[in-house]
Amino acid sequence: MTQNGSLVDELQQLEARALRAVEEAASADALEDVRITFLGRKEGRISGILRRLGELEPEERPRVGAEANRVKSRLQEALDRRQEVLEEASGTDGGVLDLTLPGRRRWQGGRHPVTRVIDELVEIFRGLGFTRARGPEVETEWYNFEALNTPLDHPAADEQDTLYLMGGHLLRSHTSPVQVRVMETHAPPIRVLAPGMVYRRDSYDATHTPGFAQLEGLAVDEGITFVDLKATLAEFARRYWGPGTRIRFRPSFFPFTEPSAEVDVKRAVQRADGTEEETDWLEIMGAGMVDPAVLDAAGIDSERYTGFAFGMGPGRIGLLKYGIPDLRLYLDNDIRFLQQFSGR
Ligand code: DAH
Repeated sequence: MTQNGSLVDELQQLEARALRAVEEAASADALEDVRITFLGRKEGRISGILRRLGELEPEERPRVGAEANRVKSRLQEALDRRQEVLEEASGTDGGVLDLTLPGRRRWQGGRHPVTRVIDELVEIFRGLGFTRARGPEVETEWYNFEALNTPLDHPAADEQDTLYLMGGHLLRSHTSPVQVRVMETHAPPIRVLAPGMVYRRDSYDATHTPGFAQLEGLAVDEGITFVDLKATLAEFARRYWGPGTRIRFRPSFFPFTEPSAEVDVKRAVQRADGTEEETDWLEIMGAGMVDPAVLDAAGIDSERYTGFAFGMGPGRIGLLKYGIPDLRLYLDNDIRFLQQFSGR
C-alpha cells in the first residue's frame, strides 16, 4: 500500500471515530471537546494528517487533501446537527436570547379541591368561634371506639369495616377520636373543628374510597343545648351555600351522641331565567348532643357541662360544589383534573 493510500485510510478511520464521538457527546461542553479533538487547527487530528501531506509525492497530495476536506465538512455537519439536538433537549438556545419568543409558563400548583373545601369550612366556623384541632391518623381502640361510647362488639369496630394495624393500633375510621383528645387536654369552653383523613375497609368506586376526609366539630360548655347546635349549623349552611339555604334534622343514632340526628340541606339555586328553585334535600352530616358517657370518659364533668358535636365529609360537599361525578377523582392524581383547581 502506498503512503497516499494509508493516509486516506487513516482519514476514514478518524471519520468513523469522530462521528461516534459526536453521537456520544451528552452535553454542549462534551461536543465542543470533540470538535477541538478532531477539527482543532493546531492540535486537531485532521490537521495532524494534513501536516503530513509533505511526505507524499506532489501528484498524490490533491487526493488526500480532497478526502480531508470531505471528512471535515461531514464532521462539521454532524457536530451542528448534534448541537441542535442537545439544545432542544436542554431547552436552551445556546445563549442566544430571542426576546420575541413567547414566555415559558411557570408550572403553578394549587390546593387540592378537598383542601379548598376544608379551608372554606374552617374559615366559616372560625367566624362562629371555632379553632382548628388535629389528632393522629393511627389511633387506639380506646380513642376510636371505647371512649366514644362504642363497645368493641359494635359493628363499626368489626374487622370488616376498620383497618387494624399491629400492636393494638388501627387507622382511625372517623375524626371523632379528636373530640376525646381535645377534651382530655383542654378545659371547657371548647369549640374546635378537626379536619383530617379517615380510613375504612371499603370498595374503590364512584361513591366509596377506602380513605377520605372528614371534618369534626365539637362545642362543650355550661348550658349548651340542642338549640345551639341547630342555630350553629343553620348559620353555617347559610354562610356556605347562601342565605336561601334551609337545613332539617332527622332523628338518627350514633353511640357518642344522644339525641342524634342526620342533617340535610336544601339549597336555593338560580334558574337560567333568574328565578329561584330549591334543590332536593341532601344529607351532609351527622350530629347530636355529646353523650354524657363521652364527656366522662374524657374527664369532663357531665353534671356541669354539655356539648354538641357534628361530623361531615368535605369530599362529598366538594362533589356538590364543583359538580364532580366520581370520588375517585380526588385520589387518582390525574393532573387534568387537579389543574382545574390550580392557582386558586
Ligand atoms: N363519626 C361519624 C361517622 O364517621 C360522624 C359523626 C356523627 C360525627 C355524629 C359526630 C356526630 O361528631 O355527632 O359517621
